[in-house]
Amino acid sequence: MTEGTSGGSARLWGGRFAERPDQSAESFTASIMFDNRMVREDIRGSVAHVRMLGRQGIIPADDAATIEAGLWKVWDDVEAGTFAFSVADEDIHTAVERRLRELIGAAQGKLHTGRSRNDQVATDTRMWTKFALLRVAQGVHDLAAALADQAAANVDVPMPGYTHTQRAQPVLFAHHMLAYVEMLRRDAERLQQAWSRADVMPLGSGAMAGVTYPIDRASVAADLGFGAISRNSMDAIADRDFVLDALYALSMIQLHVSRLCEELIWWSSGEFRFVQISDAFSTGSSIMPQKKNPDVAEIARGKTGRVVGNLMGTFMMVKGLPLTFNSDMQEDKESLYEAVDTVEAVLPVMTGMLASMKVNRERLAEAATGDFSLATDAADLLARNGVAFREAHEVVGRLVRSCIEQNKTFEDLTDEEWAALHPVFAVQKPPLTALESINARDIPGGTATPRVSSAIEEAREGLTAMQQWIDREMAVRTRTFSRNSPGASPR
Ligand code: ARG
Repeated sequence: MTEGTSGGSARLWGGRFAERPDQSAESFTASIMFDNRMVREDIRGSVAHVRMLGRQGIIPADDAATIEAGLWKVWDDVEAGTFAFSVADEDIHTAVERRLRELIGAAQGKLHTGRSRNDQVATDTRMWTKFALLRVAQGVHDLAAALADQAAANVDVPMPGYTHTQRAQPVLFAHHMLAYVEMLRRDAERLQQAWSRADVMPLGSGAMAGVTYPIDRASVAADLGFGAISRNSMDAIADRDFVLDALYALSMIQLHVSRLCEELIWWSSGEFRFVQISDAFSTGSSIMPQKKNPDVAEIARGKTGRVVGNLMGTFMMVKGLPLTFNSDMQEDKESLYEAVDTVEAVLPVMTGMLASMKVNRERLAEAATGDFSLATDAADLLARNGVAFREAHEVVGRLVRSCIEQNKTFEDLTDEEWAALHPVFAVQKPPLTALESINARDIPGGTATPRVSSAIEEAREGLTAMQQWIDREMAVRTRTFSRNSPGASPR
């Protein structure tokens, strides 16, 4: 598409207006500079509408055919990059109609029968959102798959698990990776839910009260790949919940990515040395020759603010709006587009960084038992042998204190020292390796190796199901937007 200069006004307000728009008001009220991104949705929506007008005999069938053919010519302009628009077009709906008039003349005037830009913009935005959510879902899937692969490749590697950023108890590195896979699986569910809410067609609501023609809304919905039609014309026009649902789902993805990035940034530092981010996903310093910076992770973390900001901005935009349409609502689009663009940029680079990341197994294993992270296991052993857990906690707590004072670890203690601590320890010593401690947590959701191995399998099955949903709905989208779309055939 090309952006022209502001020429004579093409606005279609008609006879009510005696004056031409003020130039500042014209560019201020225009949305064409951003909503041109929905040009395909707009054309396709018009194609479905005009097909239905012809089928229902609301306009003559040959006019409908002329208009549809003209709309596909506009589509060709778009594909060829020669669709020109300017602020005089106000928005994408007007721009498409203006171009159509240039191409087919008077017949164009019948397209907007039984339709308003209000139901049109809601319909376009919903179609655009559905497609965007599918693309984002693919990105979420791929990142989750990369995390599951890292889990599988390092399934036997212990590491410290943390609370309060203090070493708490050993866990498998794979268990830690799978925690993020769970977050991303919930993110995918949220995307699906947001997609379902967007999958309702407002067209037929007119300006807001419905229309006076015998339109067939169900056939238009089927033609456009919508699963349902809206139930209330006023709600359908005023509702931007689906935009907020999408923004919330996107914000949650960023929140999870941001937490992961935070950990990777720490883990790749000289203090931790848990992982090595590959050179390909790092940057250098202009002054310090030794530096390798985790810039990708930092920028991905930093992008979170703008996505959440777009959610907050849209909340505030909708708040206090009376029913039904208000032009404030055209402010939803830049927020939505920016959030989608941001997450679509973040996910693949995160996936690449995760897939190429090296895990320092020895360093992780060595850190796993530091800071007395096996103390709970010692207390558990006492409790299993009849000591009240609170008392066991006290005994082991005193042991930790005396070890710290003597600069010793549990491994340094002799059999006699253990026995002196508690009679139970004379018979059996507590787990002294990370893997013993880890494998003792053999319950659903626990970090024991067999549990984690089957969790990897289960996660991969979940990802396969996610992929099937994406493929199915992508196919519907592709079919709907192909030139030879089957028309009003049901899904
Ligand atoms: N440009 C508007 C939007 O982006 C669509 C037109 C809405 N209708 C109206 N009466 N201004 O939401």
